[in-house]
Amino acid sequence: MNDYLKEGGPWWQRGAIYQVYLRSFKDSQGNGIGDFPGMVSKLDYLAWLGVGAVWISPFYPSPMVDFGYDVADYFDVDPVFGTLEDFDELLRRAHDLSLRVILDFVPSHTSNQHPWFMESRSSHASAKHDWYIWRDPRRSGGHPNNWLSNFGGSAWTWDDQVSRYYMHSFLPEQPDLNWRNPEVRGAMLEVLRFWLDRGVDGFRIDAIVALMKDAQFRDDPPNPNYVPGKGHPRDSLLHHHSQNHPDVHAVLRNFRSVLDEYQDKINLGEVSYRLSLDDLVAYYGKDGGLDLPMNFKLITLPWEAVAVREFVDRYEQALPSFAWPNYVLGNHDQSRVASRTGSAQARVAALLLLTMRGTPIIYYGEELGMLDADIPTHMLQDPYGIRVPGQGRDPVRSPMQWNAEAHAGFSEVEPWLPVAANYQTVNVVTQHDEATSMLNLYRQLLKYRKESQALTMGSYRSLEGAPEDCFVYFREFENRRLVIALNFSAKGKVLRMEDQASGRLVLSTHLDREELVDLRSLHLRGHEACVVEL
Ligand code: NOJ
Repeated sequence: MNDYLKEGGPWWQRGAIYQVYLRSFKDSQGNGIGDFPGMVSKLDYLAWLGVGAVWISPFYPSPMVDFGYDVADYFDVDPVFGTLEDFDELLRRAHDLSLRVILDFVPSHTSNQHPWFMESRSSHASAKHDWYIWRDPRRSGGHPNNWLSNFGGSAWTWDDQVSRYYMHSFLPEQPDLNWRNPEVRGAMLEVLRFWLDRGVDGFRIDAIVALMKDAQFRDDPPNPNYVPGKGHPRDSLLHHHSQNHPDVHAVLRNFRSVLDEYQDKINLGEVSYRLSLDDLVAYYGKDGGLDLPMNFKLITLPWEAVAVREFVDRYEQALPSFAWPNYVLGNHDQSRVASRTGSAQARVAALLLLTMRGTPIIYYGEELGMLDADIPTHMLQDPYGIRVPGQGRDPVRSPMQWNAEAHAGFSEVEPWLPVAANYQTVNVVTQHDEATSMLNLYRQLLKYRKESQALTMGSYRSLEGAPEDCFVYFREFENRRLVIALNFSAKGKVLRMEDQASGRLVLSTHLDREELVDLRSLHLRGHEACVVEL
């Protein structure tokens, strides 16, 4: 059994985390952009839904070139989202409802409008020059090395003011901080303390793999598998020196030690989508520095029973006993799960997410089956999508669909991004009243999960010999045993477990049956997944 659980486990192992992309959640000020008072007005909804914590995307003052991931001041709230008092009110009201609040911490880079960067670029001699990563051109001229930005093009931009290049893992407007400088570390740890003193429950740490780079600035090697013209241009190199440097763990341990000055705080981290399991596991615990390195594999794997089962088995085996799993189906950077798998399979994905071992992380609107919105080219907002066509993240950031009224009840005016076309049927009010809606499926799954020790604390084992296109597993705690069966196909399947007798089917993705079933011959309809108590 997991070591933590013997002692009851920390809060973040018991509830689901819900990601609020604040800009798109609920507008209260009538400017078409979501904000804190808007979010406060929806906290009752989140409590009703049954999640345990909210993670809020960055809300700090920012020129919004990367919609808040370009921070110009770590100690305040951008007026577009409200005020510090509004934030405090949100925190108080969330805590009153037993919802924990996790902030997005963006340590790897600031905005180029941050006063630190302005000072840094003012001159070589500035006290803050070394707070960012500055290099001279190569002797032969040109960029200091071949490192690439995640958002396309070189990771280096020339600055006329100081006549040097600075590095940016993302947009040129997001210069990378120099984490090898102890003053930077000290300043950023104060950021954590500022928000912890206000009472937040932890942080989601952004872009962890970009935090530390090779101290000698060696070129990244070419990627032998790269096919020019196919995929993302940054994949032409293997980012061995520019990303995921082992020194990152010491920085994460610094963060952790600040969190440990307080009680019961979580740090979860955005690590790379491409990490090997070994590298992912290395981010855990006292050495690795994180409570939950986010596991994005359900986003990147093909949605097939064999692939998913094979991954879950390997992940479970790779995790040391102290390490707690987590699963993510979507976020503000990736196509929505219902668009990737289709709406019927999105229900199967929901049942998987909420019945696996570990902490489930839900992206706003996933509980409605929201789809990627169509965004006409002239309305594109995301600079990444504008730089690298096809990579834009606007479709997954469309406004939350609250009701069938104008602008889906998100705002009284035209929202910053168009609402998805299906909002008249896919919205909270409509689905609230539909007994078998996706929303009610999420709610019932979250409720069942909370009450079931087999799900919150139990072990995991997959079944050998499940029917084709099916993934079947056991969750077990003391004498409570569950069988979870997922049908990834549109065709009906029959699960035959000769050594099992009957069980009680307590939840089906179709929300239309609760009954005794014979496990020697359990019929699953197309796109059906279910939970059976033994
Ligand atoms: C990862 C965030 O999830 C993404 O939205 C952002 O653009 C980059 N980090 C840069 O901060």
